[in-house]
Amino acid sequence: MKTLQASYTDGFFDVSAAHGFLPAVPPLISLPHIYQALQEVLDNMPIQLSDEQPGYLHFPGKIQEVANQLPNYLAEVKQESDIRIIQALYRGYAFLTSAYTLEPAFQHYKQTGTYGKAINTLPANIAQPFVAVCEKLNVFPWLDYHYGYSLGNFYKINPEGSLEWDNLQMCVKFSGQPDEAGFILLHVDINQFSPNLVGSVLATLAAVEANAINQVEAGLDKNLDTLTQMNIRRKEMWKASRWQHYNDFRVFIMGIKGNEEIFGEGVTYTGVWDTPQQFRGQTGAQDDIIPMEDIFSGVTRYYLKNELTDYLLDLRKYRPHCVQAFFVDLETQVKQVHADGLAGYLFEQASVNGLARLLGILEQIYHFRNGHWQFVQKYIMANTPYAKATGGTPITTWLPNQITAVLQQMEGVMQSIALLSDIPDEKGTLLIANNQATFQHKKQLLAEQLSMVSQDTYSADTLFSLNSRYGLSDQ
Ligand code: HEM
Repeated sequence: MKTLQASYTDGFFDVSAAHGFLPAVPPLISLPHIYQALQEVLDNMPIQLSDEQPGYLHFPGKIQEVANQLPNYLAEVKQESDIRIIQALYRGYAFLTSAYTLEPAFQHYKQTGTYGKAINTLPANIAQPFVAVCEKLNVFPWLDYHYGYSLGNFYKINPEGSLEWDNLQMCVKFSGQPDEAGFILLHVDINQFSPNLVGSVLATLAAVEANAINQVEAGLDKNLDTLTQMNIRRKEMWKASRWQHYNDFRVFIMGIKGNEEIFGEGVTYTGVWDTPQQFRGQTGAQDDIIPMEDIFSGVTRYYLKNELTDYLLDLRKYRPHCVQAFFVDLETQVKQVHADGLAGYLFEQASVNGLARLLGILEQIYHFRNGHWQFVQKYIMANTPYAKATGGTPITTWLPNQITAVLQQMEGVMQSIALLSDIPDEKGTLLIANNQATFQHKKQLLAEQLSMVSQDTYSADTLFSLNSRYGLSDQ
């Protein structure tokens, strides 16, 4: 029975073969004129406005001083029904909320190298319109990845040009430096291929439904090629955003939940709730590419049962509702394919070419995660002893947890391939041979890194150097 729809939309995002995970309409660069005072604060907020000119966040206490003067736009916000304006208002208030609360933690970091405490009370003129706009979007009142920091926060510098990070600019910023822009706009860049990725998932599952094995294999092939392309773009991170500069803006994307050292019991939204609230922070873990691939390929079946997996599932709630609905339907549809998911179906069909492509997809998920784990080693672990990620997870155990799941499934698929007698095509032969040759290195690298981080004292540099030793360096 077909469960998946061709598109899942809220008018802004439209998960489909046409738009993938990117907005279906370009985000507004600025707010409409009636919100001019708010827009002016956002425009002057970044730490650096230009090489010579510092902005409000450069000066201790300045952002609170100007934000406290803002009119309370509650009545105006309540009138809004245009999704683009609602999204831009959410984005503006979310940035302002993080800047307002986290600015003292940032100043402390500048002076001492450790994060200080945040402000725990949001004034009514920010809290009330912010919560009102969040009710319209049905999201938590804290900066997220989709509507806020990343996918709804870009415009093209050359309108005729591509969606590559160096042709993009952020609409609202914290640091105003190129490293923040490169960091977050590369997420958008990677997602430029998401229409093909979503399209290939929908096409493959439709072909399974029709039991058209050649089309299933073609769908998997497109999925593999698209994910490979995304991984090539992902590696641009090393160039787009220098790891030594990650801390120039990182503190501003911290969440409340899981970061009690910074936020204590939470944040009080004056005029909305009397008790302190806690929400998770924006993180690439709210991106949709890897979660979709995990469900589609079957990696979710290998997720370990622990609190890190619970966190991953909790993060589903921090996504637009249309994305959440897509994931639910995708899970249902994949379950209908076979009791053992796509791998079980391909084995039953004796499709060695399909299994080889599935192995290739898993390898790309592995590279995504292992390259990403290297980002964390350099951008975070080499920069700061603070062991919590912006989403609030313990950084040394979170990502290896997910790599383990991918490796387990790769092993299972290689075993299935070994049981089939058909000769794969040229691409399939290469995929199988390469994976057989490198699989033990992947396992050994992870085992050695996990043993290192389990000790109290380890060097982030030594941990990082292991990647080259096993021929698995991302750079
Ligand atoms: C310098 C670059 C990056 C750093 C330092 C970084 C950091 C992190 C950290 C610390 C986590 C742990 C979860 C948490 O936030 O609490 C995480 C998770 C995650 N990030 Fe990133 N990230 C980077 C780039 C990206 C990019 C470019 C993407 C995809 C477009 C991405 C996608 C994810 C995903 C899907 C997870 C969930 C873990 C998983 O499923 O393996 N990240 N990231």
